[in-house]
This record gives sequence, C-alpha cells and structure tokens, in this order.
Amino acid sequence: MIGSQLDQKTILITGASSGLGEATARFLAKNGSQIALCDIAVERGEALAKEICDEGGRAHFFPLNVTSEDEVKTTFAKVKEELGAIHVAVNNAGVDHALKPLADLDGDMYHRVMDINVKGVWLCMKYEIEHMIAQGGGQIINVASVAGLRAAPLMSIYSASKFAVVGLTKTAAREYVKQNIRINAVCPAVIRTPMAEHVLSESPEMFDRILKSNPMRRLGEPIEVASTIAWLCSDHPSFITGETFAIDGGLTA
Ligand SMILES: NC(=O)c1ccc[n+]([C@@H]2O[C@H](COP(=O)([O-])OP(=O)(O)OC[C@H]3O[C@@H](n4cnc5c(N)ncnc54)[C@H](O)[C@@H]3O)[C@@H](O)[C@H]2O)c1
Repeated sequence: MIGSQLDQKTILITGASSGLGEATARFLAKNGSQIALCDIAVERGEALAKEICDEGGRAHFFPLNVTSEDEVKTTFAKVKEELGAIHVAVNNAGVDHALKPLADLDGDMYHRVMDINVKGVWLCMKYEIEHMIAQGGGQIINVASVAGLRAAPLMSIYSASKFAVVGLTKTAAREYVKQNIRINAVCPAVIRTPMAEHVLSESPEMFDRILKSNPMRRLGEPIEVASTIAWLCSDHPSFITGETFAIDGGLTA
C-alpha cells in the first residue's frame, strides 16, 4: 500500500483498457482509489471495470476518443458529475508506428501518431486543468517515453510525439503551479504490454537489440510503471512538478 490519500482520490485514466493504463487502474483500485477508466476500446474497458468492481474496487468505464474535443469535454464533465471530482488524471492513451527510418514513414502515420499522442494529451490536459482549477488543485501524470528524452532510431514520429508530451508537461507545470496543480511525466523504456509485444514480434533483431542495450537485460513490467504512477498520484511527491521520471532499468542514466 502506498497510502497518502490514494483512497480518497478519483483518478481518471485514458487508454485504460489495455497495457499500462489497465495495470495502473488495477494497482490504484487496490489502493482504494475510485477510477474513471476512459478508452476508445469499449468492450475491454467495460469488462475491466466490472472485474475491478467484482474484486471490491471502485471503477467506472467512460468511452472516449482522446482526439475529439467534443468527446473529451463532455466525457470529463460526465466523470465530474457522476463521480464528484477529478483529483488526478493519467494521460496514457497513445500509439506507436511501424519501425522504419524517417524517410520511409508516411503522412498517415504522422497524423495518426501526432493526433493521438500530442493533440490527445493536450486536449485532455486542457479540460482536466479547467476542472482542477475549479476544484482548487489536482495532479496530472502524462505517459511519455524514453523516446521523449533521447533518440529512438526507427521511431522518429513517435519520438517527436513524446518529446512534445514532455514539453506540454514542463510548460504547463510552470503555468499552473500557482493554481495548486502538479504536472509530471513518466518515461518508460520498452515495457511488456500488447503495444510492445506487437512491435517486437515483427522484429526479433530489434527485440534482441533492446534486451542487450538495457543495463538490466530485460523489458520492464507494467506493474513497475503502474506503481511509479501511483506514487505520483499520491500526496507524497508534494514538492515535485514539471519533472520526468525515466522507468528504464538504467538505460538513460
Ligand atoms: N509499452 C511500452 O513499451 C511503452 C513504453 C513507453 C511508453 N509507452 C506509452 O504508454 C502508453 C500506453 O501504452 P501501452 O503499451 O499500454 O499500449 P496499449 O496498446 O496496450 O494500450 C494503449 C491504449 O490506448 C487506447 N487508445 C488508443 N487510441 C486511443 C484514442 N484515440 N482514444 C482513447 N484511447 C485510445 C487503446 O485502445 C489501448 O487501450 C502509450 O502512451 C505509450 O506510448 C509504452
């Protein structure tokens, strides 16, 4: 148990139906938080909410496409109305693209990745911040990547999108510090989720290179990201804002 008020918080998570979002939702629900699961994948999200509730937790699913301003606005208003508050938001929804050098990527890939990873995070932050200002403060945790901290060969658009998430995080943290909103980002290396497994299954050489280049010689596990996010959701890191937290086995040290 992490404690420090987690059991008194309502926490909104985007991209909550799978991978890191799902692991974070499960971990926080076990620590007593009320969770608003938001995702474009409705069936998986509803099943997860039911499973968490069956295990004694508190979770509610809200369908959401983070690229639609109308949906973000109305869904967050609904979360606030039905669950009472949005104390913390975890902006986790994101996608990657095929592993290719920059000149081999195309405009469709660019727009898809930038729309979901950058516009989606910006839109969510915009409406989360509005609710948080009205309620006197809050916390936002954005899910970036080590690809937002340094070069990520064959993932240039993804890398650009995650550098943008770090920029949104640091700048907004300074802009809203007086309104009692703390904003931080986590930057995981490759973590064993459906997203990573899909990419790595297509390129065994890449998988091998990732394992060899990591000081711990392994992938990260979703729980290792979920528990770091949960700590950031708690009141423990009360003097930390605008920071990035690499969760990477020492890769960027
Ligand atoms: N897995 C990794 O190795 C890794 C490493 C670093 C960062 N990340 C980041 O972590 C986050 C989660 O990744 P994951 O590995 O859990 O992936 P995942 O594919 O398992 O889960 C992503 C979730 O986002 C949802 N989603 C996609 N587009 C959406 C949209 N438009 N609106 C709402 N929801 C949408 C999907 O339905 C899915 O449930 C992403 O932002 C990813 O870039 C992942």
